[in-house]
Amino acid sequence: MVSAGCPSITLALSQPDRRIPDQVYLHYTFQKIVNDSLDPEIVVIGSAYSIFRDGVNNLQPQVPKEQKSITYWGNKNISDGVCDMIAIGRQTLADCYMPKKLIEGKPDDVNWCIACDNCVELLIRQKAVGCTTYEKEAKQALRDVRKNEGSMKWKLT
Ligand SMILES: Cc1cc2nc3c(=O)[nH]c(=O)nc-3n(C[C@H](O)[C@H](O)[C@H](O)COP(=O)(O)O)c2cc1C
Ligand code: SF4
Repeated sequence: MVSAGCPSITLALSQPDRRIPDQVYLHYTFQKIVNDSLDPEIVVIGSAYSIFRDGVNNLQPQVPKEQKSITYWGNKNISDGVCDMIAIGRQTLADCYMPKKLIEGKPDDVNWCIACDNCVELLIRQKAVGCTTYEKEAKQALRDVRKNEGSMKWKLT
């Protein structure tokens, strides 16, 4: 496995967040370098695609939203030989039915991840992990832990 860094120090780099989403491109440079270095039969699974969602995001390029989406970048990176498959992390927590909904042509039904990283806060605080944007239990768990233990200044793992 190739890591983007230690999440304790560079959380926003290992999981690009909505404040600095453009760090996502570093992941694709890592993935390409790794893919080029390995024997072709070894499958490279790329990470860090959730930030793109349906193309509605804070990424810098002034291109149509279709060229800023998770499907655009996943397809592009696979066809450009950056990686062989893509993994979906946070977006799976937000909506594990995303692939089905996209196949059925229902992108507007997807609960898109907003890259807030509150799920990571639950992880850091040793609570059951879930999406605090779309899951009632996770939302409540976050409220409770913040009430009982105070808010976190830094999201350090
Ligand atoms: C709640 C949570 C737990 C994670 N745990 C791990 C882990 O144990 N090991 C790991 O290598 N990455 C872990 N990650 C990082 C993801 O595998 C992934 O690399 C990262 O979230 C970026 O992909 P994404 O943009 O699709 O979320 C975790 C991410 C989240 C949100
Ligand atoms: S809490 Fe939900 S919306 Fe926020 S980053 Fe995690 S999966 Fe995405």
